[in-house]
Amino acid sequence: MTEKFVDVWQANILSQEAAKQNYYELLNADEKQKVDTFLRAELQQKYINTRGILRKVLGTYLNMKPQDINIKTAEYGKPFVDDSEIFFNLSHTGNKLVIAVSNVSEIGIDLEQLRGRKNLKGLVKKCLSTVEKKSWESLSEQQQIFMFYYLWVRKEALVKAIGRGIAMGLDQCIVDPVQQTKFLSIPGGGDSINDWKIVEVKLNQEDVCALVIKDINFNYQLIELE
Ligand SMILES: CC(C)(COP(=O)(O)OP(=O)(O)OC[C@H]1O[C@@H](n2cnc3c(N)ncnc32)[C@H](O)[C@@H]1OP(=O)(O)O)[C@@H](O)C(=O)NCCC(=O)NCCS
Repeated sequence: MTEKFVDVWQANILSQEAAKQNYYELLNADEKQKVDTFLRAELQQKYINTRGILRKVLGTYLNMKPQDINIKTAEYGKPFVDDSEIFFNLSHTGNKLVIAVSNVSEIGIDLEQLRGRKNLKGLVKKCLSTVEKKSWESLSEQQQIFMFYYLWVRKEALVKAIGRGIAMGLDQCIVDPVQQTKFLSIPGGGDSINDWKIVEVKLNQEDVCALVIKDINFNYQLIELE
């Protein structure tokens, strides 16, 4: 039986190591065209390196040349590879990129930099459920920043695992405050609440990251790429 796995790859997309790679050559014609739609050179480079790293990583599982992989996009934007046994998802913030690859089920991952934001209260109002807001308000300022991201990455990882994106309504995705691997409620509800499991991805002190998947019995590795 094939072992179940989840690999989380992390990379700095603007590292010196990344600069030495010719990721542009790994892109397909559409991606090369998209590069020109970014006006700033830094944004072009970030796009090239993100796509190049994604292709390089996927190539190791699919046993294919990175440039030959046919990455498609589903209705709401989730990327996937047709007819393959692997599921993947990615998230980036600043120069950091994480890619989760698994053979277990659909997967979603979200990465955010832990930082104070001027519009934090507005985001809390929009994204947290009534119960979450209530307990959030009772926290100290420092705890509020952490708790916001703690909940945010879990909710985003869920809507990315499902593939619908934030239009699903983040305030309706409620993280179970007791059993931290579960959701209390998700949009549409029903049996699917119990389908999805939350896994904390520990990276460092500055970032918060979580993934959502349908089963938590798997071999897990965090792999650092350049
Ligand atoms: C997906 C989404 C939650 C990402 O939010 P974010 O925090 O800004 O970005 P992240 O860095 O975490 O993730 C971005 C990556 O998620 C992936 N992604 C995009 N849409 C996705 C979706 N619906 N489900 C899962 N993953 C998705 C992409 O690979 C994207 O990377 P790329 O832009 O380099 O290709 C948000 O953009 C969203 O809700 N999108 C859906 C938009 C939508 O409903 N469009 C309908 C028009 S068809």
